[in-house]
Formats: sequence, structure tokens, C-alpha cells
Amino acid sequence: MISRTLLSWAAAALSLASIAEGQSFRRLGTCPTLGCVLPPDQTDFLAGQYFDIRLEVHAPVNGSEARGRPTPDTAFTFTIAKKGRRPQSAAALFKIAEPQLERWNFTWYEDYFALDAKTPSLVNVASKIYRRVALYEPGDYTATLTYNNGSTTTASWLVRDLVQVKKTKNIVLFIGDGYICL
Ligand SMILES: *[C@@H]1O[C@H](CO)[C@@H](O)[C@H](O)[C@H]1NC(C)=O
Ligand SMILES: *[C@@H]1O[C@H](CO)[C@@H](O)[C@H](O)[C@H]1NC(C)=O
Ligand SMILES: *[C@@H]1O[C@H](CO)[C@@H](O)[C@H](O)[C@H]1NC(C)=O
Repeated sequence: MISRTLLSWAAAALSLASIAEGQSFRRLGTCPTLGCVLPPDQTDFLAGQYFDIRLEVHAPVNGSEARGRPTPDTAFTFTIAKKGRRPQSAAALFKIAEPQLERWNFTWYEDYFALDAKTPSLVNVASKIYRRVALYEPGDYTATLTYNNGSTTTASWLVRDLVQVKKTKNIVLFIGDGYICL
């Protein structure tokens, strides 16, 4: 399930992680590093299908991931490259204005010990959301978020032709806030 609010991402991550791992939770389900690209790696789209891209750069203030720099990098950059072509800034590719930077904080429990002790870890976030964008040419794309002086998070996206899709099963299609499986 995909949802717009970080809270439901975090809640889903928390419940999935607690089932899968038993002892420790996750800061954000699909984002093991401090730079998050959503939709994540290995997502399939249909050509022309509208979707939202959400970028988040996390700065853990305390807890095991804290690096002594509680201000998230707000100068992060984001490019998208179709295979064989040069990366382009997402705003240029989609021909839209650069989205406004958003800031918020959230807390999460790293494990049952922290939960029992009621010591949530605080994370400060810088984010941008590209709403209702679409990729029209089928093919392989690489989306790259660059943050914290050269750290990168990449996501490989596959944009499928509708004709191809009709012959294939188990494609995940995003519609608004939800997933529909064909
Ligand atoms: C986030 O937390 C920091 C302290 O780490 C605080 O200075 C800031 O005002 C908070 N921001 C928001 C949007 O709550
Ligand atoms: C992190 O800081 C918050 C706010 O000061 C505090 O409530 C929380 O217990 C701290 N968490 C850890 C893991 O130290
Ligand atoms: C990037 O590097 C500069 C110079 O070394 C440093 O002052 C700055 O804090 C770094 N920023 C981040 C987000 O790591």
C-alpha cells in the first residue's frame, strides 16, 4: 500500500518489521539509508501513468543513527535518466517548477527496549514531492537522489508499454493512494 502520509508509511513499516524481524523496527520501510526515494527501487509503471515522487532526507537527532548533525541536508538534488541518456533534473524532465522544500520531524522506536523505555528516536526531515508526474517512454530509468555531500540513493524504475502489460501478470499499478494488482 502506498500512502501520502509519512505516519502511515512508518506505521506500516513498524508492523511489517515487527512481524519479520521480531526485535527491531525500521525507520522507514523501503528506506534503509538516510536518503529516501519513493516509489522505491524496482517499481514498475505504465507509460503515461500519473504518480507522485517523494524524496526525504533524514537527519537522526538521537538514537543509534545520530551523526551529530540534526539539520537535514536541504541542498539535495534529484535526477532521472532513461537508459542510455544523460541524467536530467526531475523538474526539467517533467517541465515543472522545482517543488517547495518541506520540513517535518517524526519519531520512531528502534526496538522493543526503546518502546518499553518510552525513548523514541527523533528524526528531522527535509523533503520534496513531485505530484502527478508521468513517464511517457517505455524503458529502464534510474532515479538518483544525491544528498549529504555526495551520498546517493538510486531507484531503478521500469516503465512498461500498455501492450506489453496486457501479456504480463503481477504488475503493480499505482492509482492515487493505493495499489491495484493486475
Ligand atoms: C524539528 O526538531 C528540531 C529539533 O531537533 C526543532 O528545532 C524543529 O523546530 C522541529 N521542526 C518541526 C517542523 O517540528
Ligand atoms: C530523543 O530525544 C527526545 C526529545 O528530547 C526524547 O524524548 C527521546 O527519549 C530521545 N530518544 C533517545 C533514544 O534518546
Ligand atoms: C558538506 O561538507 C561541508 C564541508 O566539508 C560541511 O561543512 C557540511 O556540513 C557538509 N554537509 C553535509 C550535509 O554533510
